Amino acid sequence: MLTQRLILTGNEAHDEPLIQQAAAIIHAGGLVAFPTETVYGLGADALNSEAVRRIFLAKERPAWDPLIVHVDTPEAIHRYTHDYSVLTEKLIRAFMPGPLTLVLPKREMISDVVTAGRDTVAIRIPLHPVARALIRSSGTPIAAPSANKFGRPSPTTADHVLHDLNGAIEAVLDAGQTPMGVESTILDMTTQPPTLLRPGGVPKEAIEAVIGAVRTLGDPIEEGEPLPAPGLSVRHYAPKAKVLLCAPEPAIFYGALKDALSQYAFVGALRPEGWRTPDDPRLRVFEWGKWGDWETLAQRLFRGLRALEQEQTHAIVCPLPPEEGLARALRDRLLRAAR
Ligand code: TXA
Ligand code: MG
Repeated sequence: MLTQRLILTGNEAHDEPLIQQAAAIIHAGGLVAFPTETVYGLGADALNSEAVRRIFLAKERPAWDPLIVHVDTPEAIHRYTHDYSVLTEKLIRAFMPGPLTLVLPKREMISDVVTAGRDTVAIRIPLHPVARALIRSSGTPIAAPSANKFGRPSPTTADHVLHDLNGAIEAVLDAGQTPMGVESTILDMTTQPPTLLRPGGVPKEAIEAVIGAVRTLGDPIEEGEPLPAPGLSVRHYAPKAKVLLCAPEPAIFYGALKDALSQYAFVGALRPEGWRTPDDPRLRVFEWGKWGDWETLAQRLFRGLRALEQEQTHAIVCPLPPEEGLARALRDRLLRAAR
């Protein structure tokens, strides 16, 4: 199969026919990768089980790992889920469209293939104009995991998508780099209080400001113990090189690089702006961004991991972000990549 790259320009007259072309592919049961505000997704018609099955094949994703359904409006969330509480309504009003995914009891038309047999569905309204236009033109909810091979860093450019999936999908809508660079926050609304399954683009603190305390996995709850988000339990978001994490201190980072260089032939560094690295021809440096500027560091994280992997490094050294705000999502992805 030849994967078409449909290059968008941001000019409506040029882009509209390409969106229509992509929507026609979705409609016919095909696979289209598309940009969201977080990362590129690999989309199929969520109401077509055969099409959704093809996502699992293309990604080499195990069938037990359910997908996120992308819709265009709060009404569509109501159409495919039920039992939402006043908390759900508050979250929809505060954060949607945007990088928040809610796990809610599903209605029947959402197939077991999408939800991996669960009676809940993960659903969100993306903010990216291309994602919204695609959902609207397709006239159907779009099931989409991140558009990478299973276990790999999520794609933030169309090149990343093609690196992993060229020849396995019909098309990719190329709108350049995705603005956020880390995936959506996933919140399970079927427990009381709701459970944070994956930190992401909407910080936990922002959610708690709207609905009060949420629990993270491991905290005690009052009723209904949720399963951890499937697929988050294994090594994930990982490049081929070994990821080595260190405390976020310039001197410790320098020492960790020295250590790595004594053990591995080629070493990569995700370097915060202004931090020193050893002078060694076997070191490859990715200029990550200013430490503490989590928006920039989030946008560049997966790109950095993939870039250093392309340079054939055997290990990648990276300081570990703290457990706060958007940094929590970076920390989570790096801890999983380092397993
Ligand atoms: O930002 C994002 O969320 C991106 C873009 C494309 O929207 N999507 C994304 O999808 O990150 P994916 O498949 O890579 O991660 C979704 C995670 C899965 O690991 C799965 O475990 C969890 O969502 N999930 C999906 N349905 C669930 C459910 N019913 N209950 C619990 N977890 C669920
Ligand atoms: Mg993923």
